[in-house]
Amino acid sequence: MKIEECRADFPITRDLIYLDSAATSLTPKPVVQAMVEYDLRYRANVGRGVHRLTAVATHRYRDARDAVRSFVGGEGGTLAVTRNTTEAIGMVAAGLAWQKGDRVVTTLLEHHSNLLPWLRLREQGVEVEVVRPDADGRLDPADLEAAIRDDTRLVAVTHASNVLGTVLPVREIAGTCHDRGARLLVDAAQSVPHLPVDAAGLGCDYLCFSGHKMLGPTGTGGLWMREPDLEPLFVGGGSIESATADGYTLAPGEERYEAGTPPIAGAIGLGRAVAYLREIGMDAIRHHEKRLCARLIDGLAALDGVAVVGADAEGERIGVVSFTVEGMHPHEVAQVLDEAAAVLVRSGHHCCQPLMEHLGLPDGTVRASTYIYTTTEEIDMLIATVEELSRRVA
Ligand code: ALA
Repeated sequence: MKIEECRADFPITRDLIYLDSAATSLTPKPVVQAMVEYDLRYRANVGRGVHRLTAVATHRYRDARDAVRSFVGGEGGTLAVTRNTTEAIGMVAAGLAWQKGDRVVTTLLEHHSNLLPWLRLREQGVEVEVVRPDADGRLDPADLEAAIRDDTRLVAVTHASNVLGTVLPVREIAGTCHDRGARLLVDAAQSVPHLPVDAAGLGCDYLCFSGHKMLGPTGTGGLWMREPDLEPLFVGGGSIESATADGYTLAPGEERYEAGTPPIAGAIGLGRAVAYLREIGMDAIRHHEKRLCARLIDGLAALDGVAVVGADAEGERIGVVSFTVEGMHPHEVAQVLDEAAAVLVRSGHHCCQPLMEHLGLPDGTVRASTYIYTTTEEIDMLIATVEELSRRVA
């Protein structure tokens, strides 16, 4: 399918200019249909029992999970279905047996979900180093490299910033981690939907992502593990091989991380979302968003009284652009964009309060984010409306 042909599958785009896909993407009709089909035609629990519906549901659920695993380049590893990125990261934080004196390295570019779980480990005596970017949000890879010492147990970094759109050199970071014996967790919430991601090739140990940012339903995400070496956060039905009154043996592979009934319709929907993205092609998606992002940055940066945050950062970026309008609170800008032009953007600290403080932007920013259904005309409408706004304030 050509990327320009996909808009008909997203009815919301008929009436609104949706530029908030970094918060959650829209869902195309085939994904909704796949979920409805499960609920109306073959709804049953999975991995339990032998009747005909459970056989079909189990088969479709596992196929969907395999499709997602292969989509993130994780064939050799294990993929557990989670509720979202936050849950996946939490499973890593809870699943490694921490010792007093262990060391975790992360960065100030992280959103709260990849910062707070590590800060909480300080209560257990874990040392946590948070590497800071410069005043424009640029992270010097040498600073990160220097922080990763031989006694570092885990490095947890985002693949792409949800505020600045910048992409971190995770492959190089993985090289340093391996040299120093540290494990690497990559928060891929903002990369898996937008770039071709190869979990195994990147060299990370854990890859965490959300289904709802990649055309899938809310309440779905994934934790890919090179080795299934984490203690499961929950144990219970579906996660064991056998149980007695005195104990249990965990199931091998992904099942041990999926105690209880999983989000069956959600996972099947996510499997369909992955097929949809494949039909368009991740290279085409990356190309499309690159073009829109450049237009967005150039257009906004040219306006008086408008500052694009981190506009000068070099290297690859995703279609996420943060900006401020002089004399206006970001929430006010977002409100006016909605009311005046039906342009929907996110405003505030974007779950990155420490980064915002560091950038000297305590009120946060306005953030526009693109996806496969975004058009050039929509970007131009945003720029024109912001221009009108900034003139009014000046
Ligand atoms: N982390 C999501 C965002 O960036 C919710 O908006």
